[in-house]
Amino acid sequence: MMLDVRDIHTYYGLSHILFGLSLQVSKGEVVCLLGRNGVGKTTTLKSIIGITPPKTGQIKFKGQNISKTPTKRMVKLGISFVPDNRRIFADLSVRENLEIATGVKSGAWDLDKVHQLFPVLKRVENRRGGNLSGGEQQMLSIARALLGNPELLILDEPTEGLAPLIVRELEEQILELCSTGISILLAEQNLKSALKLANRCYVLERGQVRFEGTVQELAENEEVRSKYLLV
Ligand SMILES: Nc1ncnc2c1ncn2[C@@H]1O[C@H](COP(=O)(O)OP(=O)(O)O)[C@@H](O)[C@H]1O
Ligand SMILES: [Mg+2]
Repeated sequence: MMLDVRDIHTYYGLSHILFGLSLQVSKGEVVCLLGRNGVGKTTTLKSIIGITPPKTGQIKFKGQNISKTPTKRMVKLGISFVPDNRRIFADLSVRENLEIATGVKSGAWDLDKVHQLFPVLKRVENRRGGNLSGGEQQMLSIARALLGNPELLILDEPTEGLAPLIVRELEEQILELCSTGISILLAEQNLKSALKLANRCYVLERGQVRFEGTVQELAENEEVRSKYLLV
């Protein structure tokens, strides 16, 4: 088991957001968190990487309890997170954005390999991060995460706000990434993307898992889709 989240409860101050949420990601698996806006997808991801640690419950990464591990140690452990706001450095060039992410943890990913996966990043390498399109920013953000050589990559709504053509390109790139054997946990509101990318999914509502199964099972389950997803 790569990631094992058991019965976590997470709060923002006094607001109780996650209610006994559990999920698992196996090695090489792509797992998707689905659900409408505000159901707790981002909070789940932030709980895992320690930005909003759960008050109770347990999070294990490769058998090790990481429930109280500070966020800054996650890359060293093997977990990289790409937030929904794609935090890239607007004033640095694309190349500089990538350079500061190299060497944190050694492994198969280097500049050449990320340029192979995202050729556009090579073409715009001297452009300022702030002058990239949304799709390019998302690619840069994922490329930076990969340079940390993660075993588990966590993506928060990677296709959100992107034009359909760019969404398709990014989906292809994420699929190519999956074939390298990396484990991926992603949040998505877009059911079509989720069905294309993931092996298994969890559908959330109000901080709880309401459905868990393979994408095939979700595709066949009209009731779950109409009750908990925008379809
Ligand atoms: N920083 C915060 N402080 C207080 N409440 C928050 C904060 N961030 C999110 N929330 C609330 O937590 C709930 C879950 O939000 P979130 O995890 O962002 O959902 P999703 O990612 O599924 O859209 C929502 O009701 C949201 O309003
Ligand atoms: Mg979110």
